Amino acid sequence: MTHVLLIGNGAREHAIAEAIRRSAQTPRLYSFMKTNNPGIASLSEKICLGRYDQPEAIVAFGRDAGIDLAIVGPEDPLGHGVVDALTAAGIPAVGPTRSLARLETSKSFTRNLLEKYGIPGNPRFRNFTSLDGIDAFLRELDGIVLKPDGLTGGKGVLVQGDHFQTGAEALDHCRDILKVHSGVTVEEKLEGEEFSLQCLSDGRTVIPTPPVQDHKRRFVGDSGPNTGGMGSYSCADHLLPFLDADAVAAGLAITRKVADAILLETGIPYKGVLYGGFMLTRTGVKLIEYNARFGDPEAMNILPLLRTDFIDVCRAILDGKLDRIDIVFEKKATVCKYIVPKGYGLPGDHPDASCKSSLITIGDVHPARLYYSSVDRRADGLYMTSSRAIGVVGIADTLAEAEEIAERGVAGVHGPVDHRPDIGTEPLIRKRMEHMKKIKEE
Ligand code: AMP
Ligand code: GLY
Repeated sequence: MTHVLLIGNGAREHAIAEAIRRSAQTPRLYSFMKTNNPGIASLSEKICLGRYDQPEAIVAFGRDAGIDLAIVGPEDPLGHGVVDALTAAGIPAVGPTRSLARLETSKSFTRNLLEKYGIPGNPRFRNFTSLDGIDAFLRELDGIVLKPDGLTGGKGVLVQGDHFQTGAEALDHCRDILKVHSGVTVEEKLEGEEFSLQCLSDGRTVIPTPPVQDHKRRFVGDSGPNTGGMGSYSCADHLLPFLDADAVAAGLAITRKVADAILLETGIPYKGVLYGGFMLTRTGVKLIEYNARFGDPEAMNILPLLRTDFIDVCRAILDGKLDRIDIVFEKKATVCKYIVPKGYGLPGDHPDASCKSSLITIGDVHPARLYYSSVDRRADGLYMTSSRAIGVVGIADTLAEAEEIAERGVAGVHGPVDHRPDIGTEPLIRKRMEHMKKIKEE
């Protein structure tokens, strides 16, 4: 009997928990969570609530449970060295060490690594630890993006046009960033369509999963503020409507070179998920950023399609044997739509901003799948807390059918909720394709 420890409390981890429980090895699941996720709890033998910045508490829970294998879902525990602590305690853990998680936590580390090893995909960039020279570099760029160094909870990147307008404002932001962060990466703003390519790495072999497109904007038509991600889709052919096999191969080639470079640079094999956030531009595939974990919502697009035993995949990652196993994803389309409280992403003074902690009821959602995120099960029912509440996933042969299933699922959840009805629909997909066509013609 395999005893598996899962760290994390979001919908991504609910999807990971489901993949673990699908294993033919009838594993027992032990979950360490920051807040109780009723979806994960219902699949777990035992749960422990605690903080992700206290690796010793996670190790103690793992030791007591006699864990054989641990999986770390979110970036926070990775950045706090949870994999290092588990490994030191003799518990093999899927996920990079704290040092290798710098690929996500330090934008300058990643840009420098690509540059040093001659890996394509970097935009024009420079790292700064003081204001010296920033003004001159800002003037050289047509469009500006600012990235603070260090974990920022996904809210640190500032893009010209979205978060600020002028070079003078960019300079002010740099001044503020350098007051709290050790450095800032200033880079050229790229134009194109983004895609997520989540890859599995054992340090030497890198295996791709189907590409996914996320939707960060809060409202229909990609308007409103950026969020953690309002939903995502993937296609049955494991490409995207604007993305051909060559572009996917280009993203994969970059990630393979990055895994090799990490090994050369640090001597440590990267064991875990290497999720490249790429952008297809007029001049090819560029790297926006790496994440050291599965995406949320993107994990919910690909894990339900995995036909290979997930525990075997984890063991192959840990044993450096990804080249020996056949990892199969079903050829189906998926659409994930996040149900969020109406007030999600709105400024505090907005009339809807208060309906964040409300009761929701779940009726008939069949055949959609639900993955719980920020929800709390109380005596009188299920409550949303403050953030994204439930990821609703439709899986079918075509994108249109998958979208329709996701919508049916969303319609079965009642309360002061909202979602993006346009994700995965034909008009929005067409807009993406036209955007790409226009960019290529420019
Ligand atoms: P976040 O998820 O908050 O870290 O923001 C990352 C987002 O910033 C990406 O998904 C892109 O939309 C945007 N971004 C980051 N770097 C660039 C870049 N060089 N050019 C254009 N957009 C970028
Ligand atoms: N979907 C974006 C992320 O997981 O960071």
